[in-house]
Amino acid sequence: MKIECKIADAVKAIVEELYGSAVPDNLVQLQQTRPEFEGQITLVVFPFTKMSHKAPDATAQEIGERLKERLPEVVSGFNVVKGFLNLSISSRQWIEILNDINGNPRFGFQPVTDDSPLVMIEYSSPNTNKPLHLGHVRNNLLGWALAQVMEANGNKVVKTNIVNDRGIHICKSMLAWLKWGNGETPESSGKKGDHLIGDYYVAFDKHYREEVKELVAKGMDEEQAKQEAPLIKEAHEMLVRWEQNDPEVRALWKRMNEWVYAGFDETYKALGVSFDKIYYESETYLEGKEKVEEGLAKGFFYRREDGSVWADLTKEGLDEKLLLRSDGTSVYMTQDIGTAKLRFQDYPIDKMIYVVGNEQNYHFQVLSILLDKLGFKWGKDLVHFSYGMVELPNGKMKSREGTVVDADDLIATMIQDAKELSADKVNKLEDITEAEAQEIARIVGMGALKYFILKVDARKNMLFNPEESIDFNGNTGPFIQYTYARIRSILRKWSDEITLDGKAFEVSLAEKEISLIQRLQGFEAAVRQAGQDYNPSCIANYCYELVKEYNQFYHDFSVLHEEDKAKQQVRLVLSAAVAQVVKNGMGLLGIEVPERM
Ligand code: ARG
Repeated sequence: MKIECKIADAVKAIVEELYGSAVPDNLVQLQQTRPEFEGQITLVVFPFTKMSHKAPDATAQEIGERLKERLPEVVSGFNVVKGFLNLSISSRQWIEILNDINGNPRFGFQPVTDDSPLVMIEYSSPNTNKPLHLGHVRNNLLGWALAQVMEANGNKVVKTNIVNDRGIHICKSMLAWLKWGNGETPESSGKKGDHLIGDYYVAFDKHYREEVKELVAKGMDEEQAKQEAPLIKEAHEMLVRWEQNDPEVRALWKRMNEWVYAGFDETYKALGVSFDKIYYESETYLEGKEKVEEGLAKGFFYRREDGSVWADLTKEGLDEKLLLRSDGTSVYMTQDIGTAKLRFQDYPIDKMIYVVGNEQNYHFQVLSILLDKLGFKWGKDLVHFSYGMVELPNGKMKSREGTVVDADDLIATMIQDAKELSADKVNKLEDITEAEAQEIARIVGMGALKYFILKVDARKNMLFNPEESIDFNGNTGPFIQYTYARIRSILRKWSDEITLDGKAFEVSLAEKEISLIQRLQGFEAAVRQAGQDYNPSCIANYCYELVKEYNQFYHDFSVLHEEDKAKQQVRLVLSAAVAQVVKNGMGLLGIEVPERM
């Protein structure tokens, strides 16, 4: 039984004995003792003063004395501060807790069973006309971490992605490639497929803007010029042919999308993310039309004179939302309805989480209402995991102007920087091979990037500073990784098995050791909190606090040179448990930890 439960049971019995009243569970409030006071667990005594008819301090004193008598093996002492009863828990209890943590490689994680709820998490969801950028990096890292956190909280998790593979944007790239590509392929040019397509998207835009400029120079109004430019008209014609299933257009589209997917896959692999099921808009948008027709028949939506279909959400405090254009073509929202339909056919979804930037807050507010109207049981409570923009110190990312921060470039730079920065440290390692040095650089560079992004509350806009992220001190991934590697190297020097035996349980712990064990125990709560709030940054901050506290401990106490063998055993196990929890915690964030660095 957990200490808290033992204490709570005892408190109830004691209050009843002393004051003759039964105590409902919710009156027993136990908290972690504030660091400025002695003790580890604090009982809030105020609720019992009504029963004792005594002052808070007197009541606390009475309960404290009885607790010590009743649970001598648990409560080793107490003090009273203004109606708070601070309890010191015996070393033995803490060592037992430590032993349990150390013996449970999945400490802090809830088991997933056949009856666990199914949570589907959609993340990434790129368009196929350009490579992934820094914004996608944040999305992918958050989506992956959230999936791990939800699973650690005992949910079945299905990671999904909706790829926007159709529409005018991809026609632009296709058209530009036809016009100026000379048959270039990823193989012929050595370019990654997503970059190759992105380049043609940029080329389209460049030529298109020139056309618009020319038309404006001839006296045409700018808005009209944007519609009338030959290139955009041609792209629209191509989209119509695509919708009509024109074999030639479809074949080109398929070929070029394959290039893009091969490129995305490389980036996903480098980021360490993956999906259980990928949906494509080209396969879901027609389903959306059907579903909208269904809603129309049921009277949820209405048709205007021009034939377009709308949802009136004014009663819900929103506006009217277009679902099908007058020519019958679908819009972004229609596609999302179709995707929802297919997903629900494929999986018994209990909860749906969409990881999408905060510029789409309104879209998901509307989607939730529409799905609910259309009878999706998870529609009403869908979670839009809405995150803010990431900027680099030199300004905002703008894809059109070519100053976009490319995901592949960023990854390569981080790994290179990690290699240069850790060269001194790593080169000092015995018999290090070039391959291992490279692997350490990858782990550290990616760890720096991931941690820097994930430690921030997802809702906030943030500034990503590569230099700051790769620092080996402070609240960074490399700092945590370094502490892990150091613990591992300590443990490697120890050839015997690291377990606790009889004598170790008799060791009297110092305050700092106890508080480190209590911190370790807190991992469970951090995982729970992260799941409840959909907030992976809880885990990042937990890892940082744990590692800081361990470093303090390591500074103050000797581990390898401790003469008292029982004490040494406890400290070794404590170190091993910290390493395990750090590895698991960072693992939830998708961050690897190196065995040495
Ligand atoms: N592809 C879209 C974009 O780049 C994001 C899709 C988000 N997911 C969704 N189910 N609507 O803006």
